[in-house]
Amino acid sequence: MKTAIVTGANKGIGLATAKKLCEAGINVIGTARSQQNIDHALEHFKKETSISFQLLDLSDANSIKQFTKNISSKYSSIDILVNNAGIHLDGIWAGNNTLEVNRSVLENTFAVNFFGTVELTQQLFPLLMKSTGARIVNISSIMGSMALHIQPDSDIRHVKPFAYDASKTALNQFTIHLAHYLEGTVHAVSSVHPGWVKTDLGGEMAPLETEQGAETGVTLALEPTTTYNGKFMFGNQSLPW
Ligand SMILES: NC(=O)c1ccc[n+]([C@@H]2O[C@H](COP(=O)([O-])OP(=O)(O)OC[C@H]3O[C@@H](n4cnc5c(N)ncnc54)[C@H](OP(=O)(O)O)[C@@H]3O)[C@@H](O)[C@H]2O)c1
Repeated sequence: MKTAIVTGANKGIGLATAKKLCEAGINVIGTARSQQNIDHALEHFKKETSISFQLLDLSDANSIKQFTKNISSKYSSIDILVNNAGIHLDGIWAGNNTLEVNRSVLENTFAVNFFGTVELTQQLFPLLMKSTGARIVNISSIMGSMALHIQPDSDIRHVKPFAYDASKTALNQFTIHLAHYLEGTVHAVSSVHPGWVKTDLGGEMAPLETEQGAETGVTLALEPTTTYNGKFMFGNQSLPW
């Protein structure tokens, strides 16, 4: 049985991703920031489901270390890592806050969306490399696409929450660099845009439900080939970096 880790699996796209992977017969370890969130999340799973939860706060290096220690003591390999947890602290979606956004918003956003995600992946890497074909899926965003930000007729042309966008661009760069490292191996890493999804982060107006938002990430997590190593995907569409 394959084992997957899904960060931020207590709600939103992460919860839907964990459920879909369980349905596909994967043993899933979800992460959440509190026991209360774990208890609440477990209500969404049938008793017989192969899900367990561990505490993890990506903004805390000690928490990442403790999490990795717990996983390493129980598992000799990990097959799938879905780096889903993410935050948006800009306070705006439409408009452009580049000149107003302060250092703490930038630092706190990067702490989760980039630094913590990179650190976790680095620490789990030895376990992932013991898989017969590891899949690392970074849940990024179309908002991280520099190519689409400068394209005149793009949907995100005037949508510019700077901290969030820059953190997802940085995450995409992590995907590209890690993909280079994995070239020619049986392992793969990709970036995913889940779509605009109805969650606490995406808001009420979003057109997609969480089950739809989880689809691209789950497809890439279960992809048998390494075709998507170093790709940025939304459904079967390859997005520009
Ligand atoms: N929704 C969209 O339209 C959309 C579009 C593009 C990309 N995305 C990306 O999709 C991913 C999931 O977003 P979502 O919409 O499902 O958001 P969400 O419902 O707000 O869920 C975010 C998850 O991340 C966790 N998280 C927050 N801070 C954390 C930390 N310091 N350490 C560990 N986990 C932390 C949250 O835990 P708590 O419950 O404890 O806060 C929660 O489980 C994010 O990376 C987001 O950027 C979303």
